[in-house]
Amino acid sequence: MTNINKKSKVEILTGVRPTGDLTVANYLGAIKPIIELQNKGCAPMVFVADIHAMTDSEPSTAKKFINEVVADYIALGINPNKTKIFVQSDIENEVAVLTVFLSRIVTVAELLRVPTLKDKLKAHCKPETANALLFLYPVMMAADILLQRAEKVPVGEDQLAHLEISRELARRFNKRYGKVFPIPQPFQTKALRILSLKGEGKMSKTSPQGAIFLTDDAKTVAQKIKGAETAFEGKMTEKLESHILLAKELCKKKSEQEEIDALIKKHKKGELVMGQFKNVFTRIVQNFLTEFQTKKAEITRDPLCIPSILEQGAKIARANAQETLRLVKKAMYHY
Ligand code: TRP
Repeated sequence: MTNINKKSKVEILTGVRPTGDLTVANYLGAIKPIIELQNKGCAPMVFVADIHAMTDSEPSTAKKFINEVVADYIALGINPNKTKIFVQSDIENEVAVLTVFLSRIVTVAELLRVPTLKDKLKAHCKPETANALLFLYPVMMAADILLQRAEKVPVGEDQLAHLEISRELARRFNKRYGKVFPIPQPFQTKALRILSLKGEGKMSKTSPQGAIFLTDDAKTVAQKIKGAETAFEGKMTEKLESHILLAKELCKKKSEQEEIDALIKKHKKGELVMGQFKNVFTRIVQNFLTEFQTKKAEITRDPLCIPSILEQGAKIARANAQETLRLVKKAMYHY
């Protein structure tokens, strides 16, 4: 590839929706992997997908959570000196233009086959009422990725089909107009299945008593873990495995890891130790959240902190996007 400024090369790109109410499962699934990459010396780029959020919220609502989610990410350990952070709407013109160009090389039939769209149309919206941004979602996601000419995109299972469209559009564009885009590779992150503390399914904000939110205080955590389902002595269940995983992933001290291992060993032998396990589990989560909440308060106390981080990120993202669009237009208009 020519014309790629080394300083702005994007090895890993990911988008996050601006929502409040993140849970510890969101942290483990989406944020911790980026922190690990950043600490390994990769140059990740993270953006807040506020234009995507307009698919199902009013534009003014979509804007409300931007600073919130950025503060969450930084307080959790994203280091803005290593990971560039920007807001999608800070490059809205570039996103819009590339979305239009890419829409030319995908068919209506192909977009109708996208599994996430099919599921949504089955579950809670109809073609008569769903707005067309929902339909264009995968094209705009391709624009996000291709504008930055990102090499890798971390994806969970739910985003794999979307990334496949980005890859196909990049290939098609390159074939028709000349090689402009690197083909983004999926970057499989470790899939952690964190279940709801009680009841059915994965931990999710739709069932708040089974979920631990980053905003929960010590008392709430204690009360939720007290009500968590475990397993009879000697038995291992999916639920208990999930609690152990969660506790271990959140704990910062080796001694706590060992404490859990010792308790689970006893449990497997048939001893009655679930109460003790819950105490350790509670302490670990409380310590994790206190540390996070203290850092977040520090970050939000400084009114210049987040705007200056986002401005830095936007400069790089904009430079990348404008350079990409220059190459795209040169290829399409033959000048
Ligand atoms: N679709 C992603 C989600 O719902 C968010 C997203 C938008 C994204 N654009 C992206 C992720 C580009 C990775 C790359 O979580």
